[in-house]
Amino acid sequence: IAVDPFDLVVFGATGDLAYRKLLPALYHRHRDEQIPEVSRIIAASRRNLSDDDYRKLTEEALTKFVPAEEREPEQVASFLARISYVSVDAKIDDSGWADLARVLEEGKDRVRAFYLAVSPDLFGVICEGIGAHGLITPQTRVIIEKPIGKSLASATALNDAVGKVFKESQIYRIDHYLGKETVQNLMALRFANALFEPLWNAAHIDHVQITVAENLGVESRAGYYDTAGALRDMVQNHILQLLCLVAMEPPNQFEADAMRDEKLKVLRSLKPITAKELEAVTVRGQYRAGASAGGPVPGYLQELGRDDSMTETFVALKAEIENWRWAGVPFYIRTGKRLPARNSEIVVSFKAIPHSIFGDAAGQLVSNQLVMRLQPDEGVRLWLMIKDPGPGGMRLRHVPLDMSFAQTFKVRSPEAYERLLMDVIRGNATLFMRRDEVEAAWKWIDPILDGWQASREAPKSYTAGTWGPSAAIALIERDGRTWHEEI
Ligand code: BG6
Repeated sequence: IAVDPFDLVVFGATGDLAYRKLLPALYHRHRDEQIPEVSRIIAASRRNLSDDDYRKLTEEALTKFVPAEEREPEQVASFLARISYVSVDAKIDDSGWADLARVLEEGKDRVRAFYLAVSPDLFGVICEGIGAHGLITPQTRVIIEKPIGKSLASATALNDAVGKVFKESQIYRIDHYLGKETVQNLMALRFANALFEPLWNAAHIDHVQITVAENLGVESRAGYYDTAGALRDMVQNHILQLLCLVAMEPPNQFEADAMRDEKLKVLRSLKPITAKELEAVTVRGQYRAGASAGGPVPGYLQELGRDDSMTETFVALKAEIENWRWAGVPFYIRTGKRLPARNSEIVVSFKAIPHSIFGDAAGQLVSNQLVMRLQPDEGVRLWLMIKDPGPGGMRLRHVPLDMSFAQTFKVRSPEAYERLLMDVIRGNATLFMRRDEVEAAWKWIDPILDGWQASREAPKSYTAGTWGPSAAIALIERDGRTWHEEI
C-alpha cells in the first residue's frame, strides 16, 4: 500500500548507514511501488557534491547491497531520479541551510522527515538548524538512532537537545531490531494465539534465554566500538527491547503508546544489579586472535591497534523482573562479537512435568522449549517430547514442531529499515522507542557500567570463534541450567 507523498532529508548522506542500509531500503520500497511519484529523497552532508555525484554514490550502494536480479535498469533509473543533493554544514548558519529551505519549499504540504544519520553529538545542532530555518511543518518528523547517549545523563542531554525543537510525537527513535520480521512475529505469536498466554508466567516458565551472536569482529568500527562495548552497543537497546517484548503484559491494542507503556513497565521492573552481585550475575569478555569459518582472525586489541582497552566485546548476564508474572524467572542474556556463528534466538524454557509415568526406560524427559530464531534462518520451533516410532516400547524423544519462514512464506523478507522508514512516513510510532523507555533502560544499565569500572577488572579473554569466556557457561550452570545448544 502506497504511503502519503513525502520528502525525506537524510543528513549524513555520505555515511555508512545511508550507504549500507537507508538507500537500499528506500530502493526496495520504490521498486515495490510504495513510494508515491512526487516523493523525493534529499541527501545532505558537508561534502561538496552535485546531484549527479550523489546519484553515482547511490548507484554504487545499490550495486553492493541489492542483489543483481532486483536491480532492473529502469527501476534504478527512476529511483535515482528522486534523489537530489544539498551541501549543508550543520554547524555554520549560512552554509547550505537556505538551499535546503528552497528545495523543501516545493513540498510544503507533504510529509517531511529528517533522518539524522550522523554522530549523536550533531543531533542538537542539526535540530536547531532545522528549527531556526523554519523547516518544521505540521507534518514534520525527525528520525534518530543509537547510540542515544553513553549513560542516563548523556541520553537525557541528547533527548533534551532534540526535544527543544521537536515534540515527542514528532521524534522517531529507531531500534532496528524492532523492524525485524521475526521480532514483530513475537508479537503475533504471543497475542494472536490462545495457546501461549495462559502459560506465559512464572508458574509455567522456568527461564528465558536471549542470545544475539555475531561471527564478525569489530573490524573498521573499532574506533566507535571502543567507546561503547557490548553492553551499550547491544544490550541497552536491542536486547532489552527483545526482553520487553517477551515479558510485557498484553497491551490493549497494537498501537504506539499502548505498546510503549507496557514495555516501560518491564524496564522499570528490572531488578537493579548491585555492585555486590556484579561478579555473580555478569560476565564480560574480549576476544583474542582465533579462527572463524574463513580462517585465522585477529584479536580485538590488534584490530583496535592498542593494547590497553578494557572494552568488552562479549557480555553474559542474568536479569530478573520484579513483578507478579516473572518473579523468580531468570532471563539469561548473552551477546558478543567473534562467536562461532551469526545466530540469534529467544528461548522460552518451560518447567518440567511434575511426575513422569514412563519410568527410566523411556529415556530422559526434557522440558518443552519455544525457540524463536531471529536470524539467520528465521523461524519458530516448539520442542516437545514425542514417542520414538517402532514396536520397541515407550521410548521418548525431544523433537521440534518446526516452522521456517523461508519455507512457509516464499517471499523476500524485507529488511528492518524498509518497514521502519515507511512507518515514519505513515506516522506510526509503534515500533519506535519513546524517550522514557530509552532513559529507563539506561537507568538499569548505568550501575552495571559503574560497577565494572569501579572493579577495575579487565574483561575475560576468549578465543575468537568460541562461545565467550568459560565464566559465561558457569554463570548459567551455577543455577543448574545450560545455554541452549541448538545454535
Ligand atoms: C548494531 C550494532 O546496532 O547492531 C552492531 O551497533 C551490530 O555492533 C548490529 O553488529 C547487529 O545488527 P544485525 O541486524 O546485524 O543483527
